[in-house]
Parts: sequence; structure tokens; C-alpha cells
Amino acid sequence: MSKAIVLTGITTTGTPHLGNYVGAIRPAIAASKDLNAQPFYFLADYHALIKCQEPERVRRSSLEIAATWLALGLDTNNAVFYRQSDVPEILELTWMLTCVTAKGLMNRSHAYKAAVADNEQGGEQDPDKGITMGLFSYPILMAADILMFNANKVPVGRDQVQHIEMARDIGGRFNHIYGEHFTLPEAVLDEKGATLLGLDGRKMSKSYNNTIPLFEPEKKLRKLINKIKTNSLEPGEPKETEGCTLFSIYQSFATAEEVEQIRQRYAEGIGWGEMKQVLFEHINEHIAPARERYDALMEKPDHIEEQLLEGARKARAISSPFIQKLRKAVGISRISL
Ligand code: TRP
Repeated sequence: MSKAIVLTGITTTGTPHLGNYVGAIRPAIAASKDLNAQPFYFLADYHALIKCQEPERVRRSSLEIAATWLALGLDTNNAVFYRQSDVPEILELTWMLTCVTAKGLMNRSHAYKAAVADNEQGGEQDPDKGITMGLFSYPILMAADILMFNANKVPVGRDQVQHIEMARDIGGRFNHIYGEHFTLPEAVLDEKGATLLGLDGRKMSKSYNNTIPLFEPEKKLRKLINKIKTNSLEPGEPKETEGCTLFSIYQSFATAEEVEQIRQRYAEGIGWGEMKQVLFEHINEHIAPARERYDALMEKPDHIEEQLLEGARKARAISSPFIQKLRKAVGISRISL
């Protein structure tokens, strides 16, 4: 039986935070050790350009994300770990797919529609104001990422499910015109990640500016945890675990037994100051070994670069012959040898 190909990309626009860790990184790293699967994980740096026009930030984020995944023990023997821009065949495929994608399909993209809705609400004359072709056609780039390696499963957050549906549509259209070249992918929803709350009690997310970076130095980690919003109940008063940010974060890092103990302490009226201390110590202990490896890797970017180039070599061993086959299928080839 051939292994299921599991593929996912991480847009390189920020610093990994606890929400990313719990929702995406931790399950992906666990899956990288599953020898019945063939994972492809990549730094989606071309996707970064859609949202971010600060070169230093894109560069820094690529480094931080790669160091994070390696520090957390990504199995690069099993998983192919690469940078999107090191695999130029992906961009070539993007064009081939662009030419079979209905514009109407892109008009229905949530990301594009949300941008138009913002303009309309803001009373703009031009509904497309500030919307680039990158944003508009980004589902096609994402389809190329996925179809290039004939991925079976694509683990993503809820907001990305539509893009996987679009990749299926686009791949199916290409297959219909040029023959069966692509496997149609399926989205795998990771529900857990959606529930980690941030400093202000809303979902932890870069766009709310309420995140706790994963490898923050110890002192800063403590400071940030102390900033988490709570209600004004006094020590000794029983407290709800439901909807409590401190509890929500603790739960994502603890065993069922530990969670039960803390639930008990809430019922007994643990003070917020004490709970913050408990949470800090728990997270700090959990991540300290990986944080040390992360700091060491950030000092040695050459090692990270080597790993990425090795990943790109493995990826191109697939993409390079595949793009030749696709070129032929669409009629782009030498006229004579
Ligand atoms: N667009 C995805 C996100 O913002 C990242 C991504 C790019 C991706 N290419 C992908 C995810 C291919 C899965 C498969 O989260």
C-alpha cells in the first residue's frame, strides 16, 4: 500500500506563538513520525508576499519558523521540509492552473469577498481598492502547492477549507482537459487549534495582536502570562473553568489528570495570581528543552539552511520530472531534439 501524502504550508509572516503550536505545529510534528504517512511541510514564502511587503519580516519569519519546527523535533528523514521558493516548478504550475481556472471561481473566494466587503462598508467607491492580483488569485498558488505533490490530505484550519475545495475544482478541471495528472486532495480539519485563547480572551491570533510567542525567553513569558485578562473574583471565591483563558491554555499543555486537579482548584477558589504562576511554570517546563535547541539553532542559521536545501532537493526530485510531464501534456515542448 502506498503511503498517504500529507501536505501543509506555513505562511512566513510572523513569529510562531502558542496558538500555532497547539493548533498546527504539534500535530504536524507528531505526524512527521508516522511512518505510514509521507509528509510534505513547507515554508510558504510566496504566500507571505500577498500579506506582507516588509522583506526583513518575511526573511526573519522564515528563519524563525524553520528553527521552531527543527527545535521541536521534526523528523526530516521522513518528512520533506522545504521552502516553497526553492521549488520553482510550483510557480510554473501556478500559471498552467491559472489558465484553466474560471475567474468566477476566484470571485467566490472568502478572502477576496471579505476584502471587497471591507471596502464597501468603508464607503469606498471602488470595491477592489487595495486588492492585489496576488490576493485575488492566491487559491491558485495554493492549489499548485498541493497538486504538485499529489497530496491526499491537507491539514488546515477552518478558514482554509474553501481553498482545498478550490484545489479540487482546479485539479479536476485540468484532469478533464489534459488527462488524469492530479490526485484530488482532501482537507483534514484540526479543531483543537481554534480554541486556544489569547491575552485578551479572544482566539489567539496574530491579527488580534494577543499572542504569546512560543519561544519567548523565560522572563518575558512570565510577564505575558501575568498580562492575561481575568475577571475580578477574589482568591477563595469559586471560579468557572469554562471560557477562562488561563484554564484554556493550561488544558492544551496538560494531561487529563492534571486538568482534573486544576478544575478542583478552581472550584476551591484558587487566586488568579497563583493560577498564573502555575500556568507559567507548567508551560515553561514543557517548552524549556525545545527553547534551548531553538536558541542554539538561531545561532547557527547555516545548519537550518542546509536542512531546507536538502528538503528542496527531495521535493525537486519529484516536481522536476512531473513538470516535464505536465509541459508535454499542455503542448509546451521542444519542436525537435
Ligand atoms: N494559505 C495557508 C494559510 O494561510 C498556508 C498554505 C499555503 C497552505 N499553501 C498551502 C496550507 C498548501 C496547506 C496547503 O494557512
